[in-house]
Amino acid sequence: MAEEKIKEGKEEEVEVISLQTPKGIKDVLPLEQPFWETLKKAVKKTAEFYNFGRLDTPILEYANLFHKAEGVGTDVAEKEMYILKTKGGDVLVLRPEVTPAALRAYFRHGMSRETQPSKLYYFGAIFRHESPQSGRLREFHQVGFEILGGEDDPIYDAQIANLSLRLLEELKIKDLRMELNSLGCRVCRTGYKKKLQHYYSHKLNKVCEDCKRRFTVNPLRLLDCKNAKCAVFKEEAPSIINSLCVVCRGHFRSVLEYLDELSIPYFINPRLVRGLDYYNRTVFEIFSGEGNTALGGGGRYDYLAENLGFRKGIFPAVGSALGAERIIDCLKEQGIAVRPVEKPKIFFIQIGKEAKKKAIALVEEFRRADIRVSEAFGKESLNAQLKLADKEGVVFALIYGQREVFDKSIIIRDMKDGTQESVPVEKIVTEVKKRIK
Ligand code: HAM
Repeated sequence: MAEEKIKEGKEEEVEVISLQTPKGIKDVLPLEQPFWETLKKAVKKTAEFYNFGRLDTPILEYANLFHKAEGVGTDVAEKEMYILKTKGGDVLVLRPEVTPAALRAYFRHGMSRETQPSKLYYFGAIFRHESPQSGRLREFHQVGFEILGGEDDPIYDAQIANLSLRLLEELKIKDLRMELNSLGCRVCRTGYKKKLQHYYSHKLNKVCEDCKRRFTVNPLRLLDCKNAKCAVFKEEAPSIINSLCVVCRGHFRSVLEYLDELSIPYFINPRLVRGLDYYNRTVFEIFSGEGNTALGGGGRYDYLAENLGFRKGIFPAVGSALGAERIIDCLKEQGIAVRPVEKPKIFFIQIGKEAKKKAIALVEEFRRADIRVSEAFGKESLNAQLKLADKEGVVFALIYGQREVFDKSIIIRDMKDGTQESVPVEKIVTEVKKRIK
């Protein structure tokens, strides 16, 4: 066809498709899978132990859910959402987190009718259009835990922090460090914002352009600035802890007492505000070693349901999310062994047309008996197949050729010592089962 076109002098230009994935978005190859399997197993085990039920929300949601939730002045709301318009005119977003969606699902499905609070966990892909760098991707995965409804009891803040740490401990991650702060309630935060504005009012000509805007639209965001130029001003900014009202102070003290009971070490970081705007009272982040890239973070968000219009008044909610890729990087950096994917112990070798025809059904018999079998059906020579069996490190190779088809037998070869034995073909599954036990 291509030749014909050249002859006719009208060859079409072939579009070259890049082998690259989009920036900040990665493939996960089979060799990486043991890390993911280990993480998923630990998540399931930890979540189930603490009685959290799995929630899966869609990757695509209406954009206004997140626009409203993340708040003005946050990077997620202003720069990082992947928004798409459908042919039908809907404005959707690739979810930049799960928390608002968990809340939406809770109200959508009337979970408040179940025993309260609802304890939910999730594991899934998240999209943020950030500048990719080490530990910062555009598609990444989060493990998250949310406690929704019930009472705004500080024990749940401690339980969420505890659970997040226990997951990392289950994975044997070392040198865990938790930073903690309280952002107070609407009342005490108003006073603090004024103090912060007063402090920054003398520095406005020295801060970055984003901070100049944050100063008026959302002063608390000044403490979340990532620009090196603004770091020194953050360090010296007034502490929010000193502005907490009596009730918020009591709530924070109780959280710390529960953490003490659990022997969880923590550092109070009065400048920790987190990158999302919906938090009140407790916020925390978890790190490993000296690194300042958080493995996870979370906090309380009792106003979010009201801000989203899901209900009137305070709705107690607290949760956390941890970055799967960051956890996996940590497992690798700390040399933590993960269980490799289990390999088959059997390799099926077929020689000749007749044997090949019957081999495909014979392998199915092994599947029904739950015995994994490797093969190279595309290969023909005994040597090539034996070499592969050796490379894969199987315990037994089954050799099935013309003669065996005729005799209704099959050869079972011990790959360690090379001994071979002929077995009636109808008994091969039972025989293999017995030998690999
Ligand atoms: P977040 O701090 O934005 O919180 O994200 C939680 C974790 O996701 C981070 O600590 C980090 O490990 C990982 N992460 C965030 N951005 C990236 C990225 N670009 N590349 C790789 N990993 C990343 C939340 O999302 C809140 N929804 C947590 C929460 C749950 N609060 C209450 N409930």
